[in-house]
Amino acid sequence: MDEHKGRLRASELEDSGDVGVNPTHNLTMGEIIATRFNRRDLLRGPLAVAAISATVGHRALAANEQPARKASNPISFDFKEIEAGVDHTHHVAEGYDAQVLLRWGDPLFPDAPEFDPMKQTPEAQARQFGYNTDFIGFIPLNGSADHGLLVANHEYTNEELMFPGVGVQDSKDANFSKMTPDLVAIEIAAHGGAVVEIRRADGKWQVVKDSKYNRRITADTPMEITGPAAGHERMKTSADASGRNVRGMVNNCAGGVTPWGTWLSCEENFNGYFWGKLSDDHPEAKNYKRYGIGTPAYAWGKFHDRFDLAKEPNEPNRFGWVVEIDPFDPNFVPKKRTALGRTKHEGAAGITNSDGHYVVYLGDDERFDYVYKFVTAGKVDPQNRAANFGLLDEGTLYVAKYNPDGTGNWLPVVHGQGPLTEANGFRSQADVLIETRRAADLLGATKMDRPEDIEANPQTNRVYVMLTNNTRRKEDQVDAANPRANNAFGHIVEMMPEGGNHAATDFTWEVLVKCGDPSVAAVGATFSSETTKNGWFGMPDNCAIDSQGRLWISTDGNNAKATGRADGLWALQTQGKGRGTSKHFFRVPVGGELCGPFFTPNDESLFLAVQHPGEVDEGMSTFENPATRWPDFKDNMPVRPSVLVITKQGGGKIA
Ligand code: FEO
Ligand code: CA
Ligand code: CA
Repeated sequence: MDEHKGRLRASELEDSGDVGVNPTHNLTMGEIIATRFNRRDLLRGPLAVAAISATVGHRALAANEQPARKASNPISFDFKEIEAGVDHTHHVAEGYDAQVLLRWGDPLFPDAPEFDPMKQTPEAQARQFGYNTDFIGFIPLNGSADHGLLVANHEYTNEELMFPGVGVQDSKDANFSKMTPDLVAIEIAAHGGAVVEIRRADGKWQVVKDSKYNRRITADTPMEITGPAAGHERMKTSADASGRNVRGMVNNCAGGVTPWGTWLSCEENFNGYFWGKLSDDHPEAKNYKRYGIGTPAYAWGKFHDRFDLAKEPNEPNRFGWVVEIDPFDPNFVPKKRTALGRTKHEGAAGITNSDGHYVVYLGDDERFDYVYKFVTAGKVDPQNRAANFGLLDEGTLYVAKYNPDGTGNWLPVVHGQGPLTEANGFRSQADVLIETRRAADLLGATKMDRPEDIEANPQTNRVYVMLTNNTRRKEDQVDAANPRANNAFGHIVEMMPEGGNHAATDFTWEVLVKCGDPSVAAVGATFSSETTKNGWFGMPDNCAIDSQGRLWISTDGNNAKATGRADGLWALQTQGKGRGTSKHFFRVPVGGELCGPFFTPNDESLFLAVQHPGEVDEGMSTFENPATRWPDFKDNMPVRPSVLVITKQGGGKIA
């Protein structure tokens, strides 16, 4: 994944940056396994998994073993598990429907053109659903679970799958020779996010095309920078002398929905959009190196000065933030809330603390980067929506330190405290926030195995941290919270805030599960013994907690090469006797990653995003010859990233 010459796909960027790069390449368990089988065998997923287990000489779990549901245990799962594997389409548990709700290119307005992949234009794309949705949120209208606003991030683009005549190699050559100004403009319009009114009628969800709420946000939409870094010298450019106005958001991965009904959308691998390198003695050189800026993944800097460091050396400081958007006001100027720090933000899921302060948990998705939280200075006002719009501009950012004895501390990322002083180059909180990573380095935070989504369970106040993987961790870098060297399959850490208080600076923690195939002893996975051969997963990425307090996990990286199975959704029991038992609910088509997941408040509908379907090994999947033509399966339609909604046949909760 990391060894390509030339540039990397955006999905690979989060697996690749300058930070934490270990120059040695130890084979991962998945790679060791993969070398035993050719790719074609591996695409026959279940066979391959059985063969892998047999080959390594450990017990394979029985094919149809299902974890027993305890009638007395409301926190386990009823659905009948699907088979793990990889093929051209998606699969959902028996008794459930998976409806394709929104595809890349679907028109979102009455005057928006129908999708025509051979004649796509930037103008059309800006009125249609964007590419590669990661986060999805559902915000009810009038308290309804069957009518509301879907908010969706469009994280990044796959030129080789989107555009005719732009193969993988051509799109990746150092000069991006096949990428024209027009194609780049389509990409800019396909990034960002969307607000879409949706309604369920006669059991089926529909898009309300003439909604007054529908909106496309792109990488060119005017936005405001707020909070302590707004207006700082380091935020000013030739187009913006105020340091407060920026165009667009990029690489918006996961996010959150606040109790006051706004959408938090998180800029992740923003580094990949910038061309050029600064000289080593440039004041921003260290800052940019820490974020891996200097290896462009897109052609944007070729045609747009603001994405070229030689012309706009401060522009990257204006990306890497959490963006707050009011989906109820289509004219709302999105706000980059700098108080929450500048990192490669995975998500920003929050919880209202018992004392009324809002607490947002934040993962910085890179190998050896950190877990953060932000505690607002003010309190959520449930009676006055408008009063909550400044909440995320004032508060305290913390970074996590996990101690070997199972305790932990939240270290304030605050100017003037500890090493965050002028002696270390921090003259103000703006400096601290612009260089959040360097500040956290100095504080001695715990280097984690790629922190992705983090969700707090409102019923138990326990907090779940998804750690995708880190194959660069060496034996001498293992610690209690990251207990495996060469961690190919990731793990989940469960945190217990002191006294259930999310604003507290102390917590305890334990590893909930080490992921991977439990039948391969060398992997060291720790799912419960009730977990079947379909039930285990690797590379936890996004997660959701349903209204019953149950944890659902979607994955990124379970491809044919790594595990012989597609990414998908698994349900993981966190309480009771079955703690650590996982079951497979849904899987994506070949090449895809599963994002979302997000439940309606009544647990009757579950939104899932199939991101980058058809994105397989370099050179093997293109617009003309994709690995799958999901979801249309028409010869004249390319593969299309799409949002699905899962419902139970005949109605009822997803159980
Ligand atoms: Fe965009 Fe960390 O996943
Ligand atoms: Ca992710
Ligand atoms: Ca991911």
